[in-house]
Amino acid sequence: MIKLGEWIKACNTDQVSSGKLFGFDHNEKRVLLSNLNGKIYATDLICTHAEADLSTGFLTEEGIRCPLHLSVFNLETGEPTSPPAEKPLKTYNVKIQENEIYVEV
Ligand code: FES
Repeated sequence: MIKLGEWIKACNTDQVSSGKLFGFDHNEKRVLLSNLNGKIYATDLICTHAEADLSTGFLTEEGIRCPLHLSVFNLETGEPTSPPAEKPLKTYNVKIQENEIYVEV
């Protein structure tokens, strides 16, 4: 059976202005919103390598850089583009309605 995602309201667009990161929890999910050049991406919040919180990482043109061992994850695909992380982050659909950001978890 296919499980359909649920759209949840994460925050408003002012909280994730360009270049900013915003992490939040929803039940057992931990999600990171990143605003790279005006576009909002949603991925897992926790690094797949050793569980660092990526909201304390660094946003670069290549994606989100982990604060602990500096792997970079592509925000479109969630794939790590530099070691030591090997597993991708999950990515989530995002929509914006009336200045509110919604994520399909
Ligand atoms: S915890 Fe993120 S690269 Fe090691």
